Amino acid sequence: QKLKIYCAEVYCVPQVIFSACELGVFDLLLQSQKPLKAGEVARELGTSEDGMERLLDVLVGIEILEVEHTEGTAHYSSTDVSNLYLAKASPKSLHDMIIYNSQTIYPLWNNLVDAVREGKNQNEKTFGLSSKDIFSAIYRSEEEMLKFMGLMNSTWAIDGHDIVTAFNLSGFKSMVDLGGCSGALARELAREYPSSTVTVLDLPKVVQTAKQHFTESGCTVEFQEGDFFEGDLPPADLYILARIIHDWKKDKCEKLLKKIHSSTSPGGGVLIVEAMLFESRRGPITAQLYSLNMLVQTEGKEHPPSHYTGMLTQAGFKDVQVCRTGKSYDAVLAIK
Ligand SMILES: C[S@@+](CC[C@H](N)C(=O)[O-])C[C@H]1O[C@@H](n2cnc3c(N)ncnc32)[C@H](O)[C@@H]1O
Repeated sequence: QKLKIYCAEVYCVPQVIFSACELGVFDLLLQSQKPLKAGEVARELGTSEDGMERLLDVLVGIEILEVEHTEGTAHYSSTDVSNLYLAKASPKSLHDMIIYNSQTIYPLWNNLVDAVREGKNQNEKTFGLSSKDIFSAIYRSEEEMLKFMGLMNSTWAIDGHDIVTAFNLSGFKSMVDLGGCSGALARELAREYPSSTVTVLDLPKVVQTAKQHFTESGCTVEFQEGDFFEGDLPPADLYILARIIHDWKKDKCEKLLKKIHSSTSPGGGVLIVEAMLFESRRGPITAQLYSLNMLVQTEGKEHPPSHYTGMLTQAGFKDVQVCRTGKSYDAVLAIK
């Protein structure tokens, strides 16, 4: 029965949520002051009534929407979950994450068979792009870059506070978030540690896009254009590597960690943020799935704690501490 559900039903559910997000169902129901009939939703969103009714019924079935029947007609309304996480306007919205999963990740996963056979990402087969330069593939157009940055950004609206408080980082007076993308985690750091300076270093195009689309008024985070594999790193007491190690092959990660070690002073540190596998690799299922996702999209993988400890000690760091947050992402702090 479980197998039947996994093979015949579970794979359809994400498509239902993706489609409803893309069509704007959750935004419409949030804005609407009253429950709406399928025909009204269809008219507003320019869809067929029959298709919309079936979609809405599944959304009720999976408890993302609610329905009430008045004189035999179904009236659909939003729920706390859809308003908080699925409507675009919510500060905790996962809308950008869902759109990226729908339009980019899902097509890559369609080639999972080949990814497993070949042991490499499927950028070439899926998008006709070189599988070698992973960020050229991810940033293949301005639109894709913005979608990817939206995806990265939305994670930290939910999990950011747990990450920045996983350890007391107040002793680090200057922090550089390497590959800090839209600056979402950096903003959480700046909020939590107002007496520290926080800088995001990322590729020039990413920094320009972050400044244009993702800044918040009153935010003290600085941005710096650069390439963490080339040249010197800006000096810092603490370097952050959030979802960076999982992108790259082991030799590149080791090179980067050595560079960080030589850029900081004794007492300085590095904070690695990743979805960590159990030591046995028998879970968590989220980290196992993320690791497969790294296979289809990048050259890296998710690791258990001992791999991080190994890479960090090899780079010269001591005092490696691991904090499992209980959420999707965990943190590892190491000191020089
Ligand atoms: C998976 S994303 C993680 C983003 C961010 N740290 C987060 O957790 O939301 C990887 C980031 O590394 C950046 N990146 C990739 N190669 C880079 C390089 N050579 N130098 C600097 N940043 C780089 C990408 O632009 C992207 O922002």
